Amino acid sequence: MRDASPQTVFLKDYTPPEYLIDQVELNFDLHEQRTQVRSILNLRRNPQSQERSAALTLLGEELQLVSIAIDGQPLEQSQYLLDGEALIVHEVPQDRPFQIVIENIINPQANTALEGLYLSSSMLCTQCEAQGFRKITWFLDRPDVMSRFKTTLTGDKSKYPVLLSNGNKVGQGELENNRHWVSWEDPFAKPCYLFALVAGQLECVADEFVTMSGRRIALEIFVEKHNVDKCAHAMQSLKNAMRWDEETYGLEYDLDLYMIVAVDHFNMGAMENKGLNVFNTKFVLARPDTATDSDYEHIEGVIGHEYFHNWSGNRVTCRDWFQLSLKEGFTVFRDQQFSGDRTSPAVKRIEDVNALRTRQFAEDAGPLAHPIRPEAYIEINNFYTLTVYEKGAEVVRMLHTLLGAAGFRKGCDLYFQRHDGQAVTCEDFVKALEDANGVELEQFRRWYSQAGTPVLTVGQQYDAESQQLHLTIQQSCPPTPNQPVKAPLHIPVKLGLLAADGSAATIHYNGSSQAEITLNVTEAEQTFSFAKLPQQPVVSLLRGFSAPVTLKMERSLDELAFLLRHDSDTFNRWEAGQQLAVQVIFKLIDAIELSRPLQLEPVIVDAYRSVLTDSGGDLSYQALLLALPEESYLSGQMAIIDVEAIHQAREFVKKTLAEQLHAEFKQLYVQHHLDESGIFDAGAVGRRRLKNACLSYLSKLENEDVYHIAEQQFYSARNMTDQMAALSAIVNSNHPAKARSLDSFYMQWRQEALVIDKWFTLQATSSMPNTFATVQALMKHPAFDMKTPNRVRSLIGAFSQANPLHFHAINGEGYRFLADQVLALNTLNPQIASRMVTGLAQWRRYDAARQGLMKQQLQRIVATEHLSKDVYEIASKSLA
Ligand code: TRP
Ligand code: ZN
Repeated sequence: MRDASPQTVFLKDYTPPEYLIDQVELNFDLHEQRTQVRSILNLRRNPQSQERSAALTLLGEELQLVSIAIDGQPLEQSQYLLDGEALIVHEVPQDRPFQIVIENIINPQANTALEGLYLSSSMLCTQCEAQGFRKITWFLDRPDVMSRFKTTLTGDKSKYPVLLSNGNKVGQGELENNRHWVSWEDPFAKPCYLFALVAGQLECVADEFVTMSGRRIALEIFVEKHNVDKCAHAMQSLKNAMRWDEETYGLEYDLDLYMIVAVDHFNMGAMENKGLNVFNTKFVLARPDTATDSDYEHIEGVIGHEYFHNWSGNRVTCRDWFQLSLKEGFTVFRDQQFSGDRTSPAVKRIEDVNALRTRQFAEDAGPLAHPIRPEAYIEINNFYTLTVYEKGAEVVRMLHTLLGAAGFRKGCDLYFQRHDGQAVTCEDFVKALEDANGVELEQFRRWYSQAGTPVLTVGQQYDAESQQLHLTIQQSCPPTPNQPVKAPLHIPVKLGLLAADGSAATIHYNGSSQAEITLNVTEAEQTFSFAKLPQQPVVSLLRGFSAPVTLKMERSLDELAFLLRHDSDTFNRWEAGQQLAVQVIFKLIDAIELSRPLQLEPVIVDAYRSVLTDSGGDLSYQALLLALPEESYLSGQMAIIDVEAIHQAREFVKKTLAEQLHAEFKQLYVQHHLDESGIFDAGAVGRRRLKNACLSYLSKLENEDVYHIAEQQFYSARNMTDQMAALSAIVNSNHPAKARSLDSFYMQWRQEALVIDKWFTLQATSSMPNTFATVQALMKHPAFDMKTPNRVRSLIGAFSQANPLHFHAINGEGYRFLADQVLALNTLNPQIASRMVTGLAQWRRYDAARQGLMKQQLQRIVATEHLSKDVYEIASKSLA
């Protein structure tokens, strides 16, 4: 908790560590309320450091000191200084290595912040990234101090039969009083944020992987007994990821053992601790009847993500936390590539861009905007953002586009070879890519330092006489906090041209002729000219979403319908459909605001009819083509967000399409509604996606027939995808069996926490009236728990971030409710509390009445005493 005003940390103040810790020996005597830690640190002065003081400052929080000694000599009180965040030893040896032994006590049970050593259900586990190690013992808790760890865990044999830490098991033994010990040694030097331990009654699901050089790696997934039957998919995903990284990046696993532990209480998705990943159960456990197809996909993605960190993050780590995107942006890019290869690259790209544009673009346009390499923070946990992760991945993707797959791979090879075992910067990454390819990326580097989403405004001029097309591209970027003026970026823009019959028109540009090219946009305004075009082509720009920008280009509805039908670029084909819907919806929003009658443009009905009747083979892709832009995406397009008009207009489009294309939706639904167990294979996933997309439309008809279909699917479903889709159709309509279905679902799944999370979310995100009252009632439900982040996200997070209509109710009840919960969470779990504040951060985007109400709640939060740094930073920056 914060007492004095919180300190800001600046990138420009970075200095190398004064001391290094080459080796650490940690001994834990594990007890729920009183764990004893004995830490032996082998230190020496860092020859790189310019500092010349004889003191040593170790960081530690919420620790109880028992003793401290240097080279065997216990220290007296006068020889050191202890405050809430540091232990300063006034004098340590300067001319030789020395050893410090510290004994301290911690209380895992009291640790509801889930950082450091904590209790989850009955298991003890750790979370050290970013700065949790200092809640275990005093240390140089910074990523550029890399040490070899040896860890011995001692605990009760019945409570903690399994004792795990990083690396290889090197010893174990029995003790008196039903206690035992296990020792672990990690041969790779690592920063302390990658340290982990786990102790508990865990079952092990074991398998094996043979690496490309023929080494046998033991794979072990540890879960509580009742979850043993939900690990097969995670295990297969891990093997897929290991093979993929060998094939795609030539990277092999390095230890003989890879362990994953699934825990119920976790602040984020998962953590890449060396050799011992700790995962949120949400990203491990799956059985066809408990997990949806998208859960299956997310699990494979996150398992891959943490596995890929072993190279992009662990073997080569970050010099300081400002470089977070070095490992996160790169690793997200890698997991996106992996998931695309595993499922469908087209579908995966669309999903990723959709998420980026709705969520990251909002962050970039709001008061919390920051570059992917931030320059200042109060609380680093607040910078595990969509910008650092998702925009960071887009920046790496642009490098991949600019260098080509082979050039990118060459650059990565050099990066890993040059920096193996080091803690480095984003600059080192770009430099390696440059050096390996003999190119210069000076201007491109601005992507690392400049915040905000660039806007490309495109004009076209066709000259029939010279048979030339001229494309003029202007780039600009709106101001963001502390960055009023922006310099032009280097933006790769992929381009294709379509002839009148829909075929590709050859691009003649600078003497070359190709079907598709990448334009290098580098100036504020640039004109590109293309020759030998006897007819005016239709331009397909920013193919594959080749840069994280907003594209502004005048398009007629007919032109968009043409692209939706013919563009060979799967992303742009989908995008044309989206922009078509966006234009149609915005015309309706205008009509709503002017109280005019609503009418649906026939062109969108025709476009949807042709999508419905032409599968083109990939059913998941077809389902995406049928999905209307989300309300949150539409909000991003509006100067002053009108939540009600957006909802009403979108619902009108959805309902009218359902009415006018009723037969087609029904036919497709019936065709693909097979009695399937829920096996996760591409064919079945596609069928379910498409069928459930149709059900979602049909449910807007609110008639007996669709009520019957939904209820039928709900009760007969043998997989969670179908059951959830049906329940969602029921809950978001006036279905007479709503209450009964919700009760039945709860009773069926009350033992499965992850399924009950879905039950909370479904109700919290309902657009039907009375949702707020339901949310309040659910807060008092016996299954609700403020100390379980997944549960908090499933109810409070879902309501405030995925239910714009009700959260932004004009009476302000949603805002007051959220602030109440933020303040309650502030003392329990600052990381989760501060994530919940984001619901209020975008207040400037709403009308005056809502602005006032949101601001009032933010001010109330900021004025609260004992605010955590986490919440203070987000709330105060939101108001600034
Ligand atoms: N490094 C983790 C990942 O992206 C992120 C993470 C897990 C994390 N747990 C955390 C970050 C707790 C901050 C706090 O894979
Ligand atoms: Zn990560």
